[in-house]
Amino acid sequence: MTFLAPFVSDRQSTKPTRERHNGDPGDASQTSAFQATGSTSLGLRRELIAAGLAFVGVVAGVGLMAGATVLGLWVQRHAAPAREQPLSILSAVPGPMLDSNAYLKGRTLFTMTCAVCHGAQGHGVAGLGKDITQSEFVASLSDGGLIAFLRRGRDANDPYNTTKVPMPPSGGNPQLTDQDMAHLVSFMRGIQDRRRVPADALQAPPVSVAQMVAAPSADEKAAALAAAGGDAELAEYIASGNKLYHSLCVACHGKGGVGMPNNGKALVDNEFVRSLDDDGLLAFVKQGRSPSDPKNTTGIQMPPKGGNPALSDDDILDIIAYLRTLQGGANGAATGGPASN
Ligand code: HEC
Ligand code: HEC
Repeated sequence: MTFLAPFVSDRQSTKPTRERHNGDPGDASQTSAFQATGSTSLGLRRELIAAGLAFVGVVAGVGLMAGATVLGLWVQRHAAPAREQPLSILSAVPGPMLDSNAYLKGRTLFTMTCAVCHGAQGHGVAGLGKDITQSEFVASLSDGGLIAFLRRGRDANDPYNTTKVPMPPSGGNPQLTDQDMAHLVSFMRGIQDRRRVPADALQAPPVSVAQMVAAPSADEKAAALAAAGGDAELAEYIASGNKLYHSLCVACHGKGGVGMPNNGKALVDNEFVRSLDDDGLLAFVKQGRSPSDPKNTTGIQMPPKGGNPALSDDDILDIIAYLRTLQGGANGAATGGPASN
């Protein structure tokens, strides 16, 4: 029981104690990748510039003539902006209006399960899920075909996989019902073609994380109480963290923290988790770990806050309380295994 004491008392002191100013690791990784490309091609570019100088005379002459043509083309293009939109998926006549309720339920489900990899609006996250708003693949499938695809997912070795990152079956959340799937399809139709979304649904404010996650069941509460060694307050944090984890982290780290191939590491009996106190772990989850971080071993991004900016510090601390129960050595009661230290 003694190991629980620092845990509970820590909770107050681990509130927003630190502000991070490192910026978004995702951006940092993009910058460094860009710089790397720039420096390797520098030598080549110098030679090209030297060779290019010889052509300058010719270019200057041709340029005068070409200038007129280019200007003409430029005016033509910008006078007709509609032709510039890369929305080949948009049909001239929109499909039928979507049902507000179905679209909004789909939006909530999408935020909970899919946004980590595809972004809240479906525009995709670099190195993770693709842009759905512009997907020809999505536009080409019937509702039933799309649901079948979501159920199946797309393995990293699937010949149609273009990113080498898996699209997990059911987006990593096997608890999604067929009804949920239909709502997700409705949301995806809506983000592909805004004209089909009723005005009231477009204006509806987003739902908070707390509202999205269902209350723990009686069984889950009992399990949490056992894991907390009878401490009711801690049990509440664990039960809430369990729910949050299985909505927001499960897609990449697997059910019960077992990990996912080609994605998030196993968090069960995890040395890194054990090495940090709650404050340290809170800071880590808030910051994430970019692929360019020297400590990154998978080449895949751990997104800041697991990709859900709406997570509060208390939400994350609840998840940490749950993660502690997966560390056999630190809390044997949770896993039923013997406490090793
Ligand atoms: C763990 C990350 C992850 C999660 C969570 C996830 N996806 Fe994906 N999804 C991907 C990746 C990666 C791909 C692209 C795979 C490839 O390279 O072909 C993808 C592809 C797709 C595609 C096909 C797009 C195309 O143009 O080929 C659809 C549709 C899709 N996801 C919908 C969803 C929905 C809906 C959810 C939530 C229920 C979801 N995904 C959850 C990672 C994820
Ligand atoms: C989109 C996928 C994704 C989501 C969602 C995600 N993670 Fe991660 N996480 C990763 C990846 C990938 C790594 C490993 C990065 C590396 O190679 O070091 C990781 C690493 C971690 C680690 C460090 C493990 C170690 O051994 O170094 C912790 C702790 C962690 N995640 C917690 C969480 C929590 C808590 C959530 C939910 C709030 C979450 N993650 C959501 C992908 C994800």
